[in-house]
Amino acid sequence: MNAHLQQLQARADAHVMRTYPPAPAAFVRGQGTVLFDGDGQPWLDFLCGLAVTSLGHAHPAVTEAVADQAGQLVHTSNLFLTEPAVELSERLATITGWDDATVFFAQCGATANEAAIKLARKHGKRQHPDKVRVVTLEGSFHGRTLATLEATGQPAKHVPFAPLAGFVDHVPYDDPAALRAAVGDDTCAVLLELVQGEGGVRPIDPEVLTAAREACDRAGALLIVDEVQTGIGRTGPWFAFQATDVVPDVVTVAKALANGFPIGACIARGEAAKVFEPGDHATTFGGNPVACAAANAVLRTIEADGLLVTAAARATRLRDGLLRLVDDAPSAAGVRGRGLLLGLTLDAPVAADVVAACRDRFLLVNAVATDVVRLAPPLTVSRQEVDQALAIVRAALEDVAAGAR
Ligand SMILES: Cc1ncc(COP(=O)(O)O)c(C=O)c1O
Repeated sequence: MNAHLQQLQARADAHVMRTYPPAPAAFVRGQGTVLFDGDGQPWLDFLCGLAVTSLGHAHPAVTEAVADQAGQLVHTSNLFLTEPAVELSERLATITGWDDATVFFAQCGATANEAAIKLARKHGKRQHPDKVRVVTLEGSFHGRTLATLEATGQPAKHVPFAPLAGFVDHVPYDDPAALRAAVGDDTCAVLLELVQGEGGVRPIDPEVLTAAREACDRAGALLIVDEVQTGIGRTGPWFAFQATDVVPDVVTVAKALANGFPIGACIARGEAAKVFEPGDHATTFGGNPVACAAANAVLRTIEADGLLVTAAARATRLRDGLLRLVDDAPSAAGVRGRGLLLGLTLDAPVAADVVAACRDRFLLVNAVATDVVRLAPPLTVSRQEVDQALAIVRAALEDVAAGAR
């Protein structure tokens, strides 16, 4: 542990609430795919602050947009319009391909999902006063507010806060019949991820997705796709749903939207686009001009630099390299995920050890299950960085097999 990290951790231990375990590193700056710690040591960042910094660190377009906007206007509240927020709503309508899209701006993934759940409940109650239940999948992750925690299909995370409100029905993530059976007259929404990121980088079974769309149509419920982790090019297209035949009524985004500036958005189309009326939902920081300017810069850059195309090429290189590890490296069992959201599955519960061994070699990845390591590099990652990361993962697997970790 370097001196900078040691000092920061000691200060944090005194006054920062202990919702996180001790940090394995502390960083002072970043450039592209590389983070630098207090000793000036470079680390290869294949974690991206939890799938956030998709343009890499300190991208000049984002830096300039943030600096410009911060020099003009940082905040006005949700009572007033600003150009960056309106422009961002237009850009989001364009990239969803929904001419009639309307957007609610939130601060993060949980608050984007919270908005979507409230929207669905209001939509449901217009049909029937009890139409407020939400169906989600086991293993899902939708956030940590009380409603999104309840939507999250991971019971262990509920335990410290139970009892919860009891408005969510969880169904197995791979059982279309169970999903169909769970959606009834009292269901206002099905909420799901197309790749469960925190739940182990597990892509959804296409039959479950089709069943969800059909069940929502039959029950008059909304299909909400949580693209907080999969959105903004992480899995290939702008949104993961665009690689399927299914069109949701609502999508939520956050994480990569502003490359690290806190923002979330709930985007609705059709009837869902007209549900909220003045006074129904609000947040002081919603549509913050600096966050929206950063997001506009992100979307502009991805488009202008053709990053969806280059990221797809890097994704193939990374996936192929991981598949080679599955062929001949110890413990590597399989590869799953989409685009640059990939999980290396292991044949034993050693993901935490593999992650630690990667850190020993200054590669940042994380474990999303006891036997799954997640890799989520920026869309801007270079071929050389992909190859470098693959070599480190190989060495880490060998370290763990040799008992060196
Ligand atoms: C799919 C998904 N939804 C929601 C969230 C919650 O986002 P936030 O942490 O920004 O509230 C996350 C965070 O990991 C996520 O992966």
